[in-house]
Amino acid sequence: MAAACLVLRRSLRAGQLLGGRPVWPQPPQANMSFSTMSRGRRMALSTLGVVLAGGAGLALALHRSVKASDLELHAPSYPWSHGGLFYSLDHASVRRGYQVYKQVCAACHSMDYLAFRNLVGVSHTEAEVKALAEEFEILDGPDDNGEMFTRPGKLSDHFPKPYPNPEAARAANNGALPPDLSYIANARHGEEDYIFSLLTGYCDPPAGVAVREGLYFNPYFVGQSIAMAPPIYDEVLEYDDGTPATMSQVAKDVCTFLRWAAEPEYDDRKRMGLKIIMMATFITAFIYYMKRHRWSVMKSRKMAYKPPQ
Ligand code: HEC
Repeated sequence: MAAACLVLRRSLRAGQLLGGRPVWPQPPQANMSFSTMSRGRRMALSTLGVVLAGGAGLALALHRSVKASDLELHAPSYPWSHGGLFYSLDHASVRRGYQVYKQVCAACHSMDYLAFRNLVGVSHTEAEVKALAEEFEILDGPDDNGEMFTRPGKLSDHFPKPYPNPEAARAANNGALPPDLSYIANARHGEEDYIFSLLTGYCDPPAGVAVREGLYFNPYFVGQSIAMAPPIYDEVLEYDDGTPATMSQVAKDVCTFLRWAAEPEYDDRKRMGLKIIMMATFITAFIYYMKRHRWSVMKSRKMAYKPPQ
């Protein structure tokens, strides 16, 4: 410590002697910048950079050309009523979507992660959901004699499965397994846009394309041949609220329902996001004001050092 002080004072003196003003000792500078390198090193580094970038570009181009996915249609982006920052889910649509699921999709697809109670306050009242649950016979037990028994469903029951196990589901669907729909809206690229396109996109295969028996042509599905028969068409069901059940209306409602099922916190998440953006704007403006007008006095204050005479 003492030695360091001595060195400091000596160098200060030297500074005073030289220019009359104190000169602080300079710490050694790291000399690693590109411009101070030797010419050969600069050339080598530049060549390496160009070769690496070119190689990465070539690899990307080759990867793209090998991927033969041109035949697949990419789902367009639809103007969902719940899209964007300011819009919540359309709960009347969620309610109709549940009706579509129950009357059409539930014949083949399970929704294991949803219980009847999840619908309460979202699409139905508690009394309505109780009545809906009681329509189903649920296997329960064992009772005091060790026997299984059936009882009417209640709020805490999960949605009943169409098939007892995946093997039975495959056997009934030409070997294809209908996936569980609880999280399907998050599980597929394109989300509800994709599901809407898939449901409404069935068409005749183009000339020269053969579709195996038991499969259906759908340009949005990977491989274009899907084992699901077209599940919806105009007037496939009659809505309780009287909405005309056109094909696109049915597809839109079931997609809105599937979006809610995959993300029950959808509305809360957006509301919280909006609050955070509003608070963050306010806080940013406040911090800016404090920095420019309150602290600027402190920041521009000069600290003067008077050298010993
Ligand atoms: C007759 C039975 C049946 C019905 C009814 C049915 N599906 Fe399917 N679904 C299937 C089968 C089988 C598959 C698996 C297809 C495959 O892998 O080729 C499937 C697959 C799907 C997929 C996944 C596609 C993918 O990208 O993997 C979605 C989404 C889907 N169905 C939605 C629905 C909706 C929504 C309804 C109701 C409107 C419905 N399905 C009605 C049998 C059905």
